[in-house]
Amino acid sequence: MIERKQQNLGKKVSIIGCGYVGKAVANYWYKKGYFVTGTTTREEKISELESITNNCIVTTGENLQGIETVIRDQETILVSIAPISDRQVDAEAYAQTYLPTAKNLVKALENNSTVKQVIYLSSGSVYGDKKGEWVDETSPLDTDSEYSQILVDAENVILGLNKETIKVCLLRLGGIYGPRRELDKRIGRLTGKTLPGSGENWTGWIHLDDIVEGIEFVHEKGCQGVYNLVNDVKLTSKDLCNLICDRQRLKRVSWDGSKPPFSALNARVDNSKIKQEGYQFIYPDTLI
Ligand SMILES: NC(=O)c1ccc[n+]([C@@H]2O[C@H](COP(=O)([O-])OP(=O)(O)OC[C@H]3O[C@@H](n4cnc5c(N)ncnc54)[C@H](OP(=O)(O)O)[C@@H]3O)[C@@H](O)[C@H]2O)c1
Repeated sequence: MIERKQQNLGKKVSIIGCGYVGKAVANYWYKKGYFVTGTTTREEKISELESITNNCIVTTGENLQGIETVIRDQETILVSIAPISDRQVDAEAYAQTYLPTAKNLVKALENNSTVKQVIYLSSGSVYGDKKGEWVDETSPLDTDSEYSQILVDAENVILGLNKETIKVCLLRLGGIYGPRRELDKRIGRLTGKTLPGSGENWTGWIHLDDIVEGIEFVHEKGCQGVYNLVNDVKLTSKDLCNLICDRQRLKRVSWDGSKPPFSALNARVDNSKIKQEGYQFIYPDTLI
């Protein structure tokens, strides 16, 4: 564990999983003057996190002691974990990432009296294939896909946290895009290729800046419960790919309907609840 001198008397916040989103939130909170603790699973990432955290802990969620250390004396915990994002992982690896972390966090919180809010990042893909219908936070979740089932199980573990003093806020994110994850580049690279699925599945996206701002919004307001954090644009995969390829004058992507699509989601995810709470999207449209 690397701890630097406390620079301020700001709120004490911990981020479990300083990846793409976790690092952006750490940077925002650190600049805001919060005392930020962040985790990574890799020693070699410590130097990268030094400039955006006060305290960096190398641990996985499977390590109960590690999680106990991460939450000690903290007020807010953000959970932003995902299996290694640069390759497809099997369901077992998926389960090994989400479930032990959720269970250990709940266990560790039983003996903690400082934490007041847990913000947990989940995914809109938990709604699964609703044949393009609209879904909101009360809609039934997907239990057909092994991957969704794991996310739903982890959500249930976190939502089952039974402590009146702790507010649990679960954000179901759209597909994440932003700097270094630009959609025009990602889809531009697929030009001329054939992708699995019909392309008729509805997708939802969220810009990194809206994730950071949305997290701070629910943090400051002390929100609890489930919120979709997905922008206003509703497009099918095919429409989005066509838009991007046409704009860049690239050959369109083709689709093979005989194969299952990459994404489990085929639904239009409603974002009214977080808007009614008062959140204003920075990017209500998808930037392409
Ligand atoms: N990508 C999407 O489009 C998408 C869509 C919807 C929701 N989400 C959710 O959004 C959140 C942020 O995603 P992201 O793109 O920022 O992920 P990311 O860049 O892959 O970062 C994931 C973080 O989790 C850590 N991690 C991995 N396995 C762990 C384990 N077993 N125990 C503890 N930490 C572990 C990683 O550690 P290292 O620092 O060692 O790498 C990394 O810091 C996740 O909760 C994800 O499920 C993502």
